[in-house]
Amino acid sequence: MSSTAKVIAFANQKGGVAKTTTTLNLAVAFAEEGHRVLCCDMDPQGNLTMSQGIDPDTVETSMYDVLVHHTSIREAIRKREIDVACSSIDLAGAEIAMSAQIGRERSLQKAFRAIEEDYDFIFIDTPPSLGLLTINALTAAHKVIVPVQCEYLSMRGLIQLQNTLSMIRENLNPNVEIEGILPTLFDTRTLHAKEAIEILEENFGDRVFASRIKKTVRFAEAPVKGMSVLKYDPDGIAAHSYRQLAKEVLGNGKR
Ligand SMILES: Nc1ncnc2c1ncn2[C@@H]1O[C@H](COP(=O)(O)OP(=O)(O)OP(=O)(O)O)[C@@H](O)[C@H]1O
Ligand SMILES: [Mg+2]
Repeated sequence: MSSTAKVIAFANQKGGVAKTTTTLNLAVAFAEEGHRVLCCDMDPQGNLTMSQGIDPDTVETSMYDVLVHHTSIREAIRKREIDVACSSIDLAGAEIAMSAQIGRERSLQKAFRAIEEDYDFIFIDTPPSLGLLTINALTAAHKVIVPVQCEYLSMRGLIQLQNTLSMIRENLNPNVEIEGILPTLFDTRTLHAKEAIEILEENFGDRVFASRIKKTVRFAEAPVKGMSVLKYDPDGIAAHSYRQLAKEVLGNGKR
C-alpha cells in the first residue's frame, strides 16, 4: 500500500442507482479489512452524511466551505463508522459560487492534498448529474466505480458518462479509469434483470464486477438508523454482498 490515499469516485448521472449506498457500505467493508477510509459527500442532497446519522442542516463546516472558501477539509470531517467529509444543503450553490474561480475543476483535488497521507482510501459520493461537483470528483479520482441498476434503460446513460470521462482525461486527469461497473438493485426473480446484466457484459466485458448487489429492504432500513448495512445487519446477505465487492476491488488493486 502506498502512503497516499487511493481516490475512488462513485458516479452515474442517473438518480437512485445506489451510488450513496455503495459508497458507504463499500467504505465500511474496507474499514473492516483494516483500511483507513474517508467518505467525501459531494451531493447537496447529503444522503451519505445523513446515512451516518449526521444532520446536514446542522453541519457547521461542510464541503461547500472547502470548495468555495478553501477551508481545510479537516474541518468538514466527522468520525463515525468511517470518517465523513460532510455535505450540507448550501453545497447546491457551490457550482455557481465556483463558476468564476480559476482552477474550479481542481478544488477538490487540491483539498485532498492536506489529508492524502491520513487515509488509505478516499471514496467520493457524487450527485446525479455531470455538473461541476461531479467534474471535481472525477478530476480528483484515480478510479471510478459506476453503480448501474439492472434495467435496460439505465444502461444507456453509461455512454454519456463515458463521454464525460473522455473529456476529463483529455483536459484534466489523464489517468482516471473505470475500476468497474457494479450491477445493483438486482432482482433475481425477473428475467429482465438477468437480460440486463447480459447486455451489460456484452458491452463492457470484464469491466463488469463479478459481484452483484441484490434488492433487499435492508438497504432502505439501515440509513434510518444512521448505520451502514454492515453494522445494521452484519450477517445478512446485503452486508455479505458488499464484503464480497470489497474483496474484488482490493484484489484488482494487487494485479
Ligand atoms: N440493493 C438494494 N436493494 C434495495 N434497495 C436499495 C438497494 N440499494 C439501494 N437501495 C435503496 O434505493 C434508494 C436509492 O439508493 P441510493 O440513495 O444509494 O442511490 P443514489 O444513486 O445515491 O441516488 P441519488 O442519485 O439520488 O444520489 C435508497 O432508498 C436506497 O436505500
Ligand atoms: Mg446518492
